[in-house]
Amino acid sequence: MKIAFFDSKNYDIESFEPFVKERQIEVKFFEPKLNADTAEMARGFDGVCIFVNDTVNKEVVDKLVSFGVKAIFLRCAGFNNVDLAACFGKLHVYRVPAYSPYAVAEHAMALFLTSNRRIHKAYNRVREYNFSLSGFAGMDLYGKTVGVIGTGKIGRIFINICRGFGMRVIAYDLYPIPNSDIEYVSLEELFKQSDIISLHCPLTPETTHIINKDSINLMKKGVNIINTSRGGLINAEDLLQGIKDRKIGSASLDVYEEESDIFFEDKSGHIMNDSTLLQLIAMPNVIITSHQAFLTNEALNNIADTTTNNIIGFFSDNYNLDNEVCYHCGNQANCRKARHKKCF
Ligand code: NAI
Repeated sequence: MKIAFFDSKNYDIESFEPFVKERQIEVKFFEPKLNADTAEMARGFDGVCIFVNDTVNKEVVDKLVSFGVKAIFLRCAGFNNVDLAACFGKLHVYRVPAYSPYAVAEHAMALFLTSNRRIHKAYNRVREYNFSLSGFAGMDLYGKTVGVIGTGKIGRIFINICRGFGMRVIAYDLYPIPNSDIEYVSLEELFKQSDIISLHCPLTPETTHIINKDSINLMKKGVNIINTSRGGLINAEDLLQGIKDRKIGSASLDVYEEESDIFFEDKSGHIMNDSTLLQLIAMPNVIITSHQAFLTNEALNNIADTTTNNIIGFFSDNYNLDNEVCYHCGNQANCRKARHKKCF
């Protein structure tokens, strides 16, 4: 079992090393992200381990297959960066469906609390011995309406956190949980009624730019938007315009559509060309973190544990299918895994 590990960061290496040693998996840690230019590095490996900003399109799939790679092991939950249709029949794809939904839901609330009460600004002011409170007025969360889009593992934990603050929760999900205590409304109602909107759905063709100028038009003046899911859920230029128009009260973002060459890297000292991102960063009511919602010790440990289990499972006779995904997944009629125990 020789695995090429792309986009390696020091915290990945620290969390994976004990597991790969114990489970006798040969891993080579590469710094670059996987894409058509770097796929060559996977030559001679049995599998590749990738993260959210590696790119597996048809060209990369064909290259990996020609180099003898048999499986892709995502060390994350989302798989929107993998062309599953191109992989089908050629490369098996595994993921880590959950590693700590608490980490992400807690970070979403941490970001919003920071931005609502301008804690990031206050911290800097006090460090400069500036004890003025001017411009720091936030709003009580008690009694406010929060609209949660996506009531999966993370969304449900976020809902419980919001209820702890005494907020009214409404939600929208393509697949609402039957007989739950969640008040589901249409997407349009959610946009109209919410003081705060938090995104916890995956990035799919239907959810791409779910926040755009039309949906922003429906929202209340002063609406607060939280996105810890995927950058592509928001049209960033429309968001920026909404902020300039004073329509959006705050934006708390852990993800950004064009993050792939920026987030996770030290860009200090570089000239940044993304003027939308620069303007967002400059806004007093916008707070951005660099896709760090998942980053807790518990989550890193769970990611390394599940990913190495996926690797062991795939290469053993006791073929482990639980965490395999293919483009039939979720489509009951066509799900080959359900009928034949294998995606292909
Ligand atoms: P999940 O699969 O448990 O829940 C997703 C929910 O979204 C499901 O209830 C599903 O029915 C719903 N959904 C699907 N399509 C929808 C649509 N068109 N409209 C509304 N709802 C829809 O996933 P989980 O674990 O809660 O994760 C949610 C998202 O969080 C992931 O897709 C991922 O993009 C993001 N994430 C971000 C991380 C970070 O570090 N910032 C870390 C982990 C996940």
